[in-house]
Amino acid sequence: MSARPDHRFFVAPGGSLRGYLRVPGDKSISHRAIMLASLAEGQTQISGFLEGADSLATLAAFRAMGVPIEGPKDGEVIVEGVGMQGLQAPSGPLDMGNSGTAMRLLAGLLAGQRFPATLIGDESLSRRPMRRVVEPLTQMGACIQASPSGTAPLLIEPTDALHGIEYRLPMASAQVKSCLMLAGLYAQGETCIHEPEPTRDHTERMLTAFGYPVRRQGLKVCLTGGGRLRSCRLQIPTDISSAAFFLVGASIAPGSDLLLEEVGINPTRVGVINLLRAMGADIELLDRRMAGGEPVADIRVKAAPLHGIEIPAHQVPLAIDEFPALFIAAACAQGETVLRGAAELRVKESDRIQVMADGLNRLGIKAESLADGIRIQGGQFGSATADQAIDAHGDHRIAMSFAIAALRAQGPIEIRDCANVETSFPGFAQLAARAGLGIEEQRQ
Ligand code: S3P
Repeated sequence: MSARPDHRFFVAPGGSLRGYLRVPGDKSISHRAIMLASLAEGQTQISGFLEGADSLATLAAFRAMGVPIEGPKDGEVIVEGVGMQGLQAPSGPLDMGNSGTAMRLLAGLLAGQRFPATLIGDESLSRRPMRRVVEPLTQMGACIQASPSGTAPLLIEPTDALHGIEYRLPMASAQVKSCLMLAGLYAQGETCIHEPEPTRDHTERMLTAFGYPVRRQGLKVCLTGGGRLRSCRLQIPTDISSAAFFLVGASIAPGSDLLLEEVGINPTRVGVINLLRAMGADIELLDRRMAGGEPVADIRVKAAPLHGIEIPAHQVPLAIDEFPALFIAAACAQGETVLRGAAELRVKESDRIQVMADGLNRLGIKAESLADGIRIQGGQFGSATADQAIDAHGDHRIAMSFAIAALRAQGPIEIRDCANVETSFPGFAQLAARAGLGIEEQRQ
């Protein structure tokens, strides 16, 4: 049990999802937009910005470092860039809240500044591994220290001796890659990062949009420090990670037919579509186009019978945030679904393997957690209420996944510790209710 004031979802069983929906802006891209716009020369206008707690923490951090930022108002943000050397020392620690992306990317960016800074986070973020950024940044000459257990707070002291390195990522992580690229902007010489498998490439795309040369060769990405960023206009697509709950919900709920507008379909993010289709889902991508350097489409999804699959290893980084929702699809599928090679899920906002396995078991589904994945047998969701409520462990994606599960449950599902849904998907319950989910929320 946590000390957080409880925020619960109560979801009635059954129903279907229908109509047109627009989910909020992409979280990964929103963080990067604030960071790069702040370092650019001139004014950057951003639209489609996610007004969720995670990206707002990044925005607040740059305001605290002296960047004039107007908004957000209806997703519109205007950033008066201060240039590569224009950030100022913040008057206190920078609080990244629940956001691993904000903390890890900022660690790289701050390693190159002329002032000291401290990064702190909430209870969940303060448990997450930070050595993965501290070690390579130290190799680059940064002065950065984590706690003895390798976690936040991160203390960063100025240095004028950052130098580029050639680094092989020990795990597929866009956060670590992006952290090193941001430090690389301030380093002498070339910084090259080799990925074990492709991960989201929003930093690379956005640097290019700001006129900064980035070289990509297969699984290696390189940039040279000392350049400048030119302001631009950015249109942020809606977040496929938020759309994922509706892709799964509409697939599992008989009679569903949903259209999701202007969803980002960057090839490094579409694992959820690939995997749902492999399970038999009926998903169509309509009117594919580009927006702000990122591919987008309207997505139509209709209910379809699903079957279990073995998840191919190369899809894991492409669907890393969507596994909680995909596990709900697996529980509604005929037969068994097996995921391996996904130990990273244990160090997300919660241990997503264990927390999902526990919740699925509570709803009567056979789910066995493995060291690096899960084995799920399709079945029938029962019900979970009152002292048997599902515990989301403060993890936004766990809360929303179990809410969607109610579409195929025999009885109501109650979910506790849902407040962090605000980090990525403000207004989730209202939007889901509009589409047909019988959801109510209660804040205590
Ligand atoms: C993110 C990268 C992923 C993802 C996270 C957002 C990003 O983390 O899980 O939600 O914006 O770069 P890792 O790169 O650590 O896998």
